[in-house]
Amino acid sequence: MAQNPTTRKRVTTLRLAQMKETQTPITCLTAYDALTAEIFDQAGIDLLLVGDSLGNVVQGHDTTIPVTLEHMIYHTQAVVRSVHHSMVVTDMPFMSYQASPREAFRNAGRLMKEAGSGAVKLEGGLRVIEAVRLMTENGIPVMGHLGLTPQSIHQFGSYRERGASEEEADQIKTDALALEQAGVFAIVLEKIPASLAAEITNASRVPTIGIGAGQHCDGQILVWTDMMGMSTQFRPRFVRRYAELNEEITKGVKQYIADIHAHKFPSDEESY
Ligand code: KIV
Repeated sequence: MAQNPTTRKRVTTLRLAQMKETQTPITCLTAYDALTAEIFDQAGIDLLLVGDSLGNVVQGHDTTIPVTLEHMIYHTQAVVRSVHHSMVVTDMPFMSYQASPREAFRNAGRLMKEAGSGAVKLEGGLRVIEAVRLMTENGIPVMGHLGLTPQSIHQFGSYRERGASEEEADQIKTDALALEQAGVFAIVLEKIPASLAAEITNASRVPTIGIGAGQHCDGQILVWTDMMGMSTQFRPRFVRRYAELNEEITKGVKQYIADIHAHKFPSDEESY
């Protein structure tokens, strides 16, 4: 149910920590533009992620690799302009944080200062821990991202589930602990076994946000275009479809074409 926009307070990292403590599920969605972000914010979503998935769903690339820091700043600015309650988190794109902790720190600072984001997210555990620490020690809230990390697609060679083997599961648990110790305020767990996500969630002091990680995480996130059925192609089993917008939009556009061809649009009432 939509919450009264005047009584809802801005969601903060503190609020997310309280939600974990009180076992209140944290609701998250991606957003890439002002119009949809406003709808999600007004509907009562706790956290909006300006995900680098925009490389796939907005820009039409096969991977998130081509997304740049400038793209993330542009889309975050649009989202921030229309959001009043949800916490806004921005993804750090590929190669904006891997080269050195100082470069990562500067780029995260741009996302906060120029784009107006409330926090940043980056992929990886131990390998990015120095960058995470530099940010959290200097006032930049960081969200971790473990399991399937799409920016490493060319290293892994597939978008398969992660953490199914004991070795991979141990690595993800070690990374989660390291991120928590480095001061992240939350960790996204993507496409890992529900039992592993539950184990990490129980052991962790910070909230876990699952995507394809079962129901025992502290919160859930989905890419909004997936859960609203904008694409006919991408249908992984972890995405529940809450609408069929592709069908709805196609229907509307076909009717529009038919009306123009039949000289039914615009009518006299729609003309000046
Ligand atoms: O880029 C993105 O949308 C994400 C979510 C899938 C967690 O990282």
